Amino acid sequence: MKELKVGLLGFGTIGTGVVKLLQQNAEVIRNRLGAPVRLLKIADLDIETDRGVKLEEGLLTADAEQVLSNPEIDVVIELIGGYEPARSFVLKAIANGKHVVTANKALLAVHGEEIFAAAADKGVEVMFEASVGGGIPIITSLKENLGANRFQSIFGILNGTCNYILTRMTNEGEEFAAVLKDAQQAGYAEADPTFDIEGIDTAHKLALLVSLCFGTRVDFKQIYAEGISSITSLDIQFARQFGYKIKLLAIGKMHDNGSIEARVHPTMIPEHYPLADVDGVFNAVRVTGDFVGPVMQYGLGAGMNATASAVVGDVMSLARSGRGNGEPRSYGYGCRPDALQELPL
Ligand code: HSE
Repeated sequence: MKELKVGLLGFGTIGTGVVKLLQQNAEVIRNRLGAPVRLLKIADLDIETDRGVKLEEGLLTADAEQVLSNPEIDVVIELIGGYEPARSFVLKAIANGKHVVTANKALLAVHGEEIFAAAADKGVEVMFEASVGGGIPIITSLKENLGANRFQSIFGILNGTCNYILTRMTNEGEEFAAVLKDAQQAGYAEADPTFDIEGIDTAHKLALLVSLCFGTRVDFKQIYAEGISSITSLDIQFARQFGYKIKLLAIGKMHDNGSIEARVHPTMIPEHYPLADVDGVFNAVRVTGDFVGPVMQYGLGAGMNATASAVVGDVMSLARSGRGNGEPRSYGYGCRPDALQELPL
């Protein structure tokens, strides 16, 4: 295997984590792949801020074209977040024959169809393990390890920021606004934290999970989404008196008539349920397949290191798959484009 050359778009919290991981674990990665992963270029509008990582001269640029049109780069990692310019950059990377690794759930929930179709046309891959559940390998599990199952339901805690806020309000009686500030400082929250606290980020993630589980395209705008901004300490105390914890839950179910239920809202969970013990920035996802039964995964749902782990895992997976020699392996939503179903939500 020859070395894999990557370019990075976006040098914020997660981008910095990716660079640190590629530097600190270069030996581990090289040994596992039998070849190194080499970061050729990083593009970000801010080329001044010290991120606490040492970079070779000329590695950092403010010009995204130096990543997108660099003929040496095999894989573009998109960590800009949001819809634009991320969408245009990802489409350009694909048009230039590059594989894409992204953590951008908003982008895929809204423009996934266009992006996966472009990738299928070009015979390149779009990998998005980091887009849901931080370091939890739920996307690969659904596509690959559990891929032989018909899925009946999927639900979970998918937003680290909300879970962190609710946990501190529950355990320490703290107020919403103060804890949100801490979550932002810790690098858990989205650039616009409204996406977190109003359930939009969770709905983006649920749209991806439901699409993967049920083999259909789900427009996230059709998902009922209610966040935690109106939850008060009093609500939490009352719930506890009755033996419940309040969690922001994403719920996806396939009904017998072939329709899909998908919703996001604060939910009272009995204290003895495992999901009630998922605290802080942790996420958990429980999926039920017809052969495997219930499977639950738990891990850090946000933050620099856990998300970087998922991003670099995708890069390594591309390196192993032969980088697009032949048909793409993952088909976006987890099935061939011509096999996607049209199901009522
Ligand atoms: N803002 C997101 C969260 C980041 O708090 O879960 C990880 O997707």
